[in-house]
Amino acid sequence: MYKLDQNETPLFDALMEYVNRDTIPFHVPGHKKGLGIDQEFKNYIGENPFKIDVTVFKLVDSLHHPTGPIKKAQELAADAYGSDAAFFSIHGTSGAIQAMILSVVGDGDKIIVPRNVHKSITGGIILSGAVPVYMQPELDKKIGIAHGVSPETVEETLKLHPDAKAVLIINPTYYGVSTDIKKIADIVHSYDIPLIVDEAHGPHLKFNEKLPMSAMEAGADICAQSTHKIIGAMTQASLLHVRSERVDVHRVQQLLNLMQTTSPSYILMASLDCARRQIALEGKELLDNTIDLIKYAREEINKIPGYFSFGEEVLGAPGCYGFDPTKLTITCRDLGIAGSDLDMILANKYHIQMEMSDLYNILAVGSYGDTKESLDALINALKEISNEYLGKGNKKSDILDMPSIPEQILRPRDAFYSSKHAVPLKDSIGMVSGEFLMAYPPGIPILCPGEKITSEILNYVQQLKDKGLFVQGTEDPKVEYIRVVD
Ligand SMILES: Cc1ncc(COP(=O)(O)O)c(C=O)c1O
Repeated sequence: MYKLDQNETPLFDALMEYVNRDTIPFHVPGHKKGLGIDQEFKNYIGENPFKIDVTVFKLVDSLHHPTGPIKKAQELAADAYGSDAAFFSIHGTSGAIQAMILSVVGDGDKIIVPRNVHKSITGGIILSGAVPVYMQPELDKKIGIAHGVSPETVEETLKLHPDAKAVLIINPTYYGVSTDIKKIADIVHSYDIPLIVDEAHGPHLKFNEKLPMSAMEAGADICAQSTHKIIGAMTQASLLHVRSERVDVHRVQQLLNLMQTTSPSYILMASLDCARRQIALEGKELLDNTIDLIKYAREEINKIPGYFSFGEEVLGAPGCYGFDPTKLTITCRDLGIAGSDLDMILANKYHIQMEMSDLYNILAVGSYGDTKESLDALINALKEISNEYLGKGNKKSDILDMPSIPEQILRPRDAFYSSKHAVPLKDSIGMVSGEFLMAYPPGIPILCPGEKITSEILNYVQQLKDKGLFVQGTEDPKVEYIRVVD
């Protein structure tokens, strides 16, 4: 199945050799294997992390110019995921995404992206000077979330913008829903441009047949994955995978060198090396177990009055082609309390911390670190909360149809660098927004920097406020003022 020996962990092994040699350190970091570390911190962390907290030298290789164990570790990652080249990112998927965007578009190039992208994508668009062309994702009004963009939307957008230089999609969403990425890859490639993928929530997809198809399997050209979010790497450690037919692998390396620190953490990189070995060799079994556990939790939660956790029945709805069963989105609209309140009760009273919440939902990210005990604790807490709150509050309002995407007057880059001033929102019709304005739910921008403010948008904001739904993003937390371009 693999071409290389996935038992190997070349970077971790090189660090172990450094430790075993009992090397005397005259290199940074200045704590010198932990001797110079604050005692209380060391008492808690223990001594071992400091022994492998080293810097660039021959034995442990260089992230910017890998020729030894880092090169080998990245080759093993590419082999495990079926890419032509893999790169370690110690700036999370945010850093990987920015390098990914910069490697396919430049100043003035069009890039087609979903409207509800993560802010690192907007960051990449600002840095590159590209012109975004937005696609509206499919909305699920009952749950109040956005799903994927449909292949039809991608096709229509490309017909209108055949000069686009790249298309970006999210696979899967935060809530575990994926679109028909294979079909989208074929459509995008018929224009001979790269499909680039934000796979922050999909580093596990390739390793279990019960999960949706991964970007690399679908034929995408680049994808960035948060190895640290879903599988066993440490926070900040992500992978960037490249297929070399439409993307220049050397340029990707150059861009990562431009963006990443020259002092990457070897602890983080070693965690990537070992997380790759773990998922390559044990992923299927570990994920089978996770899927069973979360399935059990979903079934139990769906028996408790006031909650609903969607599963595979979502498939077939627009933008829903695959479902990641390790995700547990718990909708509490019928309970009559906001998801954000439920989140607070779980955190403060039960010491259970969810991944995120919005007006309608809380989200638990499942992984092979979960246990039956931890899921039972969540189920029992939800039962108690249901007993206490059911029937006492009001069901939250339905989400409203989004206004149309406004005209783009300035590129996000130009809007970002322009001077701006605040005006009352009610007086801003016809002006160019210098800020984002987001509707929650479903967490989709109504306005992006550089776009023209319309009366339709102002009416929508008023309706959101009247219905007690959230509108956010402006510097003014009450969204009475908006910063516009001078
Ligand atoms: C969809 C999506 N893309 C990208 C990112 C950025 O990932 P990271 O936190 O690894 O930088 C996130 C983070 O939450 C995300 O949800």
